[in-house]
Amino acid sequence: MKAIHLLSILLLPVCFLSCSHRNEQQTLAVNKELDYCNNQIHRTLKEIEGKKMMPRNISDSLTHWNLIPITIDDWTVGFWPGILWYNYENTQNASDAEVATYYTDLLEPLTKLSANDHDLGFQLFCSYGNAYRLTGNEKYRQIILNAADTLATLFNPKAGTILSWPRNINLYGGHNTIIDNMINLEMLYWASKNGGNKNLYDVATKHAEITMKYHFREDGGCYHVAIYDTLDGHFIKGVTHQGYGDSTLWARGQAWAIYGYTMVYRETQDKRFLRFAEKVTDLYLSRLPENEFVPYWDFDAPNIPNEPRDASAAAVTASALLELSQLEDNREKAGEYKQAATNMLLELSSGKYQSRESKPSFLLHSTGHWPNKSEVDVSINYADYYYFEALVRYKNYQ
Ligand code: GLY
Repeated sequence: MKAIHLLSILLLPVCFLSCSHRNEQQTLAVNKELDYCNNQIHRTLKEIEGKKMMPRNISDSLTHWNLIPITIDDWTVGFWPGILWYNYENTQNASDAEVATYYTDLLEPLTKLSANDHDLGFQLFCSYGNAYRLTGNEKYRQIILNAADTLATLFNPKAGTILSWPRNINLYGGHNTIIDNMINLEMLYWASKNGGNKNLYDVATKHAEITMKYHFREDGGCYHVAIYDTLDGHFIKGVTHQGYGDSTLWARGQAWAIYGYTMVYRETQDKRFLRFAEKVTDLYLSRLPENEFVPYWDFDAPNIPNEPRDASAAAVTASALLELSQLEDNREKAGEYKQAATNMLLELSSGKYQSRESKPSFLLHSTGHWPNKSEVDVSINYADYYYFEALVRYKNYQ
């Protein structure tokens, strides 16, 4: 008995070391993590009560949310209402629906404006899309149909893509499309299938095809921005905006590509998009540091390992890979992607990445815009949104 006891004491550190590097042997305590998010949400609600603003970020040195006014100029205003809807989906408490309704309705002035840029999808689909999915409220459906038509006014048939940033035509010397724009195609697909204009389906699919053709390098890595000639639509070049360099692998950009092509495959059932989702995913996974699942903000940043991480990229990717694993026609790949997503969620749910008592956000360590030196190593609303979405997906897929 004594000998066995001694042996286990001797082996314990070995097991601890190897197990801590092998997340595949751990299971995600998804209900515990969802409860944690619910608790953080109620801390935030207390903090922002009566302010009619949305939480955006918390710098590393601070403990309270930096709030943003509700304006079309902030691409992140829809994430907080979206988080509240996911929370309601999980708790099914009427009071959680009430508060989600309150923050969603604050966005209503934005629903009557013309298209500022492609972010309309982030702003109105993460909020109203989830609101309609969970309530079936007709008012929300009309708002989304209207927003989809508005977004489609930015489509340039010559280029075959949406103009992501009208304000930057002069800066880039032409029609510009950013990889983030892939996410906002979802609202167009949704509208085309829920009583809106049928041609929105073709607009979204054309955008996805052209982006697949020009926006990526041979290895499946994407540029942040693709520039096309405004008049004849030919592709001019790919550049960066938020990455380290024009041809480096900006982590969140690649995460948007993974999420975007997974969603486009779900909507079209066209296998070209599934194969492409695999290609962009396999590159991302192959570039992760060994046994680590949260990337540095750019896979090619020059000072790795002394570079900030981007938890938001991990959260977006985890959520996408959970869906991709469900859609896969290849069982081996399905298992690989599910495991990768689980590893990402385990790491994000660790003490290294959760804010816990220190702040009311869910997560720490995201990087918003490194070249601008803004929102570097912060808590940020969209990391929280996609983390929560991934947890809900993980639970629903069990
Ligand atoms: N859509 C802007 C970003 O990913 O930072």
